[in-house]
Amino acid sequence: MPKNKLQKFERVRHLPNVTLAEEETTPSPQAFPWHHPRYAGMQRILELGCGKGEHSLAFAAASPQKLCVGVDYKSHRMCVGAEKALAQGLSNVFFLRTHVERIREFFQPHSIDEIWLTFPDPLWKNRKSMQRLTAAPFLDDYANLLVPGGSVHLKTDCQRFFGFSCDSVKRWGGRVTAISENVYDGGPDAPDTAGAVSAYERAALSRGAAIRYLAFTLG
Ligand SMILES: C[S@@+](CC[C@H](N)C(=O)[O-])C[C@H]1O[C@@H](n2cnc3c(N)ncnc32)[C@H](O)[C@@H]1O
Repeated sequence: MPKNKLQKFERVRHLPNVTLAEEETTPSPQAFPWHHPRYAGMQRILELGCGKGEHSLAFAAASPQKLCVGVDYKSHRMCVGAEKALAQGLSNVFFLRTHVERIREFFQPHSIDEIWLTFPDPLWKNRKSMQRLTAAPFLDDYANLLVPGGSVHLKTDCQRFFGFSCDSVKRWGGRVTAISENVYDGGPDAPDTAGAVSAYERAALSRGAAIRYLAFTLG
């Protein structure tokens, strides 16, 4: 493993804004920093598959009244975002290393205002279709976590994943509230991402890919 990656694995363990979920234990949701009374009443945003967490950082910087949590199972990536948050003095952003499949263990039902899926892995093999972050079992989890009227936002450069997600939301019974075939063309449905451009997005843009966006509610 590259030395740089190993160093991040080690550093991330000591960052005060990172929670590393252990595989075997199911902790009490109250144990996590985002449940501290000082954050009561704040709007909550989850970024799932956050990588380096560019969207979480941008939302937190733009809106001090919002609490953002970036979630990914790769801790060396979130190390980059977590260290940036500390350097920028952002006290309203946290990172959680876990699988999205376990997300309900860490948050109270109906406590999240927005969920952002930023360039999820498309996972094209059919046997992996239920692992896509917009497959029905994940939509069940998001419906459980969202406040009434809360929304899910998807950004992707993958047309097939976008199509799969639109179909999955409709089949589940969700309601599409915004849709854009290319957010950089502007238009009324382009999202406000506080200027965030993620590492994956930057690479997609340099290939000339269109960045698609879908927003939906679940119930
Ligand atoms: C294509 S990358 C995008 C990263 C980042 N959002 C960006 O735009 O640069 C997908 C990310 O999702 C994470 N991921 C994929 N499936 C996941 C899962 N089931 N639970 C947690 N993280 C997951 C990967 O580790 C990876 O960092």
